[in-house]
Amino acid sequence: MKIFVTRKIPEKGLDILRKHHEIEVNPHDRVLSKKEIIKGLKGKDGLLCLLTDQIDKEVIESKKKLKMISNYAVGYNNIDIKTATRHKIPVSNTPGVLTDTTAEMAWALLFSTTRRIAEGDKFTRDGKFKGWGPMLMLGQDITNKTLGVIGTGRIGTAFALKSKGFNMKVLYHDEKINEKLESELNAKKVSFKELLQKSDFISIHVPLLDSTYHLISEKELKMMKETAVLINTARGPIVDEKSLVKALKNKWIFSAGLDVYENEPKISEELKKLDNTILQPHSASASIDTRTKMAVMAAENMIKGLKGEKPLNCVNPEVFKE
Ligand code: GLV
Ligand code: GLV
Repeated sequence: MKIFVTRKIPEKGLDILRKHHEIEVNPHDRVLSKKEIIKGLKGKDGLLCLLTDQIDKEVIESKKKLKMISNYAVGYNNIDIKTATRHKIPVSNTPGVLTDTTAEMAWALLFSTTRRIAEGDKFTRDGKFKGWGPMLMLGQDITNKTLGVIGTGRIGTAFALKSKGFNMKVLYHDEKINEKLESELNAKKVSFKELLQKSDFISIHVPLLDSTYHLISEKELKMMKETAVLINTARGPIVDEKSLVKALKNKWIFSAGLDVYENEPKISEELKKLDNTILQPHSASASIDTRTKMAVMAAENMIKGLKGEKPLNCVNPEVFKE
């Protein structure tokens, strides 16, 4: 069968696909337009796509029968799952393999925001460091503080567990009780409001859904402590970027560490001008090991799906019900 791959992914995944099928890979190192994806899909049976590709109704229905969509990401808000399911097309993602890598980025952002690492680096390089100063680059301690985790699925749980070395009080907000966090960290499940009000550091680990769009907006930012730090490695639109700029400018909160943006790859110009933010280019899962594992997983899901079997990481298993 034939597969269209919307952008080059680590070779190990492509090799697996080539062993079983014919593949066409986008030759450019850039995101393809919708038109280009539709063109690429001509004569193909499978689509291996990225979180930067909008696989909407028009793309899905541009083909009579697409057999499989394998997303090279854990989040799959870029795909119109309803339409895919209606056409009985299985969709898969890459959960698990990027959990610790993403949780580590959330910690990297937490350290860099609390201790003003990017700002300090720039200050030093710019020749502004004239010697030790009692009031120079004062930040926030992490040890003994309260950590607030919004969403305790795989990534949120891994993020919280990594707090063990810092003797933190852990609050979390989720629909479900997280036994692991409660038993290992004595973590406490609290209301969203309590989490916002009591946490020193808040990290977002929910998927982007209608119900999580602008979950953090002006009202929520105003409930946070003035010393609070907000970390987002999940999806940009969960935070209302305009309100966040306002909060950071007016010092309603101390700082924000962001890996994702509301209108990616566009970033608010005002956000870029602020010292109290750390901005990363949506690279939370970007370790060599993890990206390779994601490629293998996406390839294996594709192969199963093209055989008419349920991929290991199917996000719409309804497709396989009679
Ligand atoms: C990254 O953002 C992913 O969803 O894998
Ligand atoms: C995603 O992998 C999550 O469950 O957090």
